[in-house]
Amino acid sequence: MTNQDRGPDPEISGKPNSASRTTLSHIMTGNDTNLLGTVHGGVIMKLVDDVAGAVAGRHSGGPAVTASMDEMAFLEPVRVGDLVHVKAQVNWTGRSSMEVGVRVLAERWNESKPAVQVGSAYLVFAAVDADGKPRPVPQVLPETERDRRRYQEAQIRRTHRLARRRAIMELRQNRAAEGIED
Ligand SMILES: CC(C)(COP(=O)(O)OP(=O)(O)OC[C@H]1O[C@@H](n2cnc3c(N)ncnc32)[C@H](O)[C@@H]1OP(=O)(O)O)[C@@H](O)C(=O)NCCC(=O)NCCS
Repeated sequence: MTNQDRGPDPEISGKPNSASRTTLSHIMTGNDTNLLGTVHGGVIMKLVDDVAGAVAGRHSGGPAVTASMDEMAFLEPVRVGDLVHVKAQVNWTGRSSMEVGVRVLAERWNESKPAVQVGSAYLVFAAVDADGKPRPVPQVLPETERDRRRYQEAQIRRTHRLARRRAIMELRQNRAAEGIED
């Protein structure tokens, strides 16, 4: 992971968020449960990674791999029979990486009420070439005030990820320089 922001490639035209935004819908079954009988968090995380990967592939026009997944929040339990909608869009782009924001909604199978938000996550995908090396992506072009807010929030998360990584690397180097082994 690079420690500096290199900015978008000026030779690639930008793309709006709406060009790749998508939703994956899935009915939860008995195979998806944990010991409590509600849906296992890992099942939801797989759907989140699947839909985020689809969005990253569509935005970048080719293969993209998950570089990190952070701030996965589970807000409400999901039950067997619930119809789950996993909505994703590119929030932010760097040179070759994209932050994808995901919202997980559940329509309860036995209630005729609007879907409830049951989770959310932010993932970073890196677009890669045939050799698995990072390749440049189109800059995302926010279209609405909500898109602009999401872009700005993603930029804050990006800054924190880089700062955290730098701080941890410095700590490890300092410990190694002091001859501390663990
Ligand atoms: C992600 C991967 C391509 C990055 O390769 P790299 O040699 O570290 O390349 P870079 O340091 O140039 O990183 C490329 C971009 O990804 C970002 N990135 C890399 N690792 C990251 C991480 N852990 N979190 C957030 N962003 C990350 C970098 O900041 C950079 O962004 P930018 O180009 O927009 O500035 C590489 O680590 C990889 O292939 N990982 C395995 C991915 C995979 O298999 N995922 C599925 C898991 S089963």
